[in-house]
Amino acid sequence: MVITIASMKGGVGKSTLSTMIAKFIAEERGTPVTVIDLDPQRGATILLLGARYAKQDAGPGIYEILQSEHDNIPSTELFNQALVVSPYKELIRVIPSNASLAQLRGPETPRELLSLALQDAPIGEDETVIIDTSPDVTFCEMGIMASDKIFIPITMSHQSGVPTLNTLQAVMYAEKEIGGLIPTLIGRAKWQKARVEAWRESLMQTDLVKGRGIDVLPAMPFSHSIPSGKWRWGKLPKGCPEMLDAIYVKLFGEHALVVEEVVDETVLVEGMVAA
Ligand SMILES: Nc1ncnc2c1ncn2[C@@H]1O[C@H](COP(=O)(O)OP(=O)(O)O)[C@@H](O)[C@H]1O
Ligand SMILES: [Mg+2]
Repeated sequence: MVITIASMKGGVGKSTLSTMIAKFIAEERGTPVTVIDLDPQRGATILLLGARYAKQDAGPGIYEILQSEHDNIPSTELFNQALVVSPYKELIRVIPSNASLAQLRGPETPRELLSLALQDAPIGEDETVIIDTSPDVTFCEMGIMASDKIFIPITMSHQSGVPTLNTLQAVMYAEKEIGGLIPTLIGRAKWQKARVEAWRESLMQTDLVKGRGIDVLPAMPFSHSIPSGKWRWGKLPKGCPEMLDAIYVKLFGEHALVVEEVVDETVLVEGMVAA
């Protein structure tokens, strides 16, 4: 299963979400996860391998893999060499990005390069591949094309509308499936929750979303503990497991968390009286 976290808008939480999904799958499912960092800014590389690692720029990364495919040389061996195990979780491996990736930016770059690399890659049956994309159109489109399911984080800001729409259109063009839209950076205050609910309702009524059966998933709450990154080796911030469980259901068709059954008390009482 290959999933992509995509948005042509920067700063909406793509890298944070990619990292959290990887952690959640590794912990709750106990199966391996490979995160491919498809952004020259290296958000996922820094989050999963640490800033010190990212500075070293050691060994081959996603740029070398894509360049090899561009030259018609299968990148299987390079993929193996590029994989780095996350110090935070043994089940998570990363194909790091580096600044050279920016060289592949542009309309001439074939968007199939990553799909070709994944066909050559030694990926296990039970492995989940998570592609973290860049706001840059080249890498966003490339990540979408290589994926089975796409998740799009969205903020409520006015200026995120256009890039979100462009991202949705790129997914439609590639004829790929949308796993869901995920509202991000949502405050926990009552009025903010109410606003996001109203916004969610109206979004679900738009032709683009409603007409295509796209789901708006539970929001990733705003949390002061997220920028510090401590959750990478500890507990996930409040509200995040529920959001991640909704993504998990989309991927594996079952809940990772125990869902409390809603028991209809009337029926229960009537049943007891009858007994
Ligand atoms: N739910 C959240 N609550 C608080 N801060 C967040 C949250 N999600 C992301 N951030 C912060 O917002 C910034 C952008 O997030 P990032 O995941 O790098 O976005 P992108 O990859 O889309 O550019 C980072 O500083 C990150 O720590
Ligand atoms: Mg990022």
